[in-house]
Amino acid sequence: MQLNFDWLIVLEKLRRGIMVTDTTLEGPQSPRIIYVNTAWLKMTGYSRDDLANQTPRMLQGRHTDSTVVGSIKQKLLNREVFHGQTWNYRKSGEPFLMNWYCYAIYGERPKPIYYVAEQEDVTELETLRLKERLLVNPNDTVALQFFSVLKEWKISRKTG
Ligand SMILES: Cc1cc2nc3c(=O)[nH]c(=O)nc-3n(C[C@H](O)[C@H](O)[C@H](O)COP(=O)(O)O)c2cc1C
Repeated sequence: MQLNFDWLIVLEKLRRGIMVTDTTLEGPQSPRIIYVNTAWLKMTGYSRDDLANQTPRMLQGRHTDSTVVGSIKQKLLNREVFHGQTWNYRKSGEPFLMNWYCYAIYGERPKPIYYVAEQEDVTELETLRLKERLLVNPNDTVALQFFSVLKEWKISRKTG
């Protein structure tokens, strides 16, 4: 097996969005985004130039669940893997459901060298799942809340 292949080409062609940050967690400027792959740029609508000095918080907005994102720091500090899902926002302002894993990458030393996230837009998948739930129960609050976020965006686009 050879290990000296062109790993950057592989990262760039992955289907899933990849984000790498530094390992600072304190303060509004932390952690800093170091790298995102092409799938991530496609998913969010941002360009690499938009990302200078940015943190992953740039994706958050009105409907981002603070309980979900609030648990990341502790997971990373405890050397655990974070897995969660919440509303994030594309550059255009469009909400989408981000589902992501986040964990630390360790080198030779016990201190982490990067934080990495594997990120996926699951809005379409959830739309199908929650439409079915509404067929069973038209008052399903989770489903109604989900569709109201998408509807709010559609209306704001028309009127704005
Ligand atoms: C590698 C990495 C990727 C992250 N990706 C996202 C993301 O896709 N969406 C999101 O809402 N927050 C993401 N975060 C979380 C925020 O950067 C931040 O840690 C979170 O908002 C909690 O911190 P705060 O309470 O200071 O805002 C990510 C964090 C790390 C370290």
